[in-house]
Amino acid sequence: MRVLITGAAGFLGSHLSDRFLAEGHTVIGMDNLITGATDNIAHLAGHPRFTFIKHDVTNYIFVEGQLDAILHFASPASPIDYLELPIQTLKVGALGTHKALGLAKDKGARFLLASTSEVYGDPQVHPQQESYYGHVNPIGPRGV
Ligand SMILES: NC(=O)c1ccc[n+]([C@@H]2O[C@H](COP(=O)([O-])OP(=O)(O)OC[C@H]3O[C@@H](n4cnc5c(N)ncnc54)[C@H](O)[C@@H]3O)[C@@H](O)[C@H]2O)c1
Repeated sequence: MRVLITGAAGFLGSHLSDRFLAEGHTVIGMDNLITGATDNIAHLAGHPRFTFIKHDVTNYIFVEGQLDAILHFASPASPIDYLELPIQTLKVGALGTHKALGLAKDKGARFLLASTSEVYGDPQVHPQQESYYGHVNPIGPRGV
């Protein structure tokens, strides 16, 4: 497959890039380095199946050629980052996802979005299951 990984210079994105390359796929890593670092992907420099594009995914995303999958992992990812970068966090979650989805539609690519358990509120159970939100908020999406 030829895959686009947004947030490729971050913790999860860099490991995902390693994994997909190890399995023989071609990876285009995209990141604006707001919380990530090129150190995380320095070992991939010169890899014949890896390309890095420095780009803010809240802006129009252009990728040449076919794409089989988009793994959208670009987002500040900790409560500290959310407080320091509130606008950027909201923008990448909304606009960035919108742009990445548009690209997936155009390319006919499968789309995987990473989210966070922070959406469920303060953890009272660990690990939090997908049923957690409905568990603590009976009037949540599943309760309405
Ligand atoms: N780390 C975890 O344990 C964990 C657990 C569950 C979910 N997640 C989710 O996975 C995703 C990635 O988490 P992470 O730990 O790898 O975070 P990270 O901060 O290490 O990586 C995120 C990457 O996204 C990049 N980025 C942010 N905004 C961008 C933008 N507008 N354009 C391009 N790149 C941008 C950052 O520069 C960074 O390299 C987040 O959505 C997070 O909530 C992480």
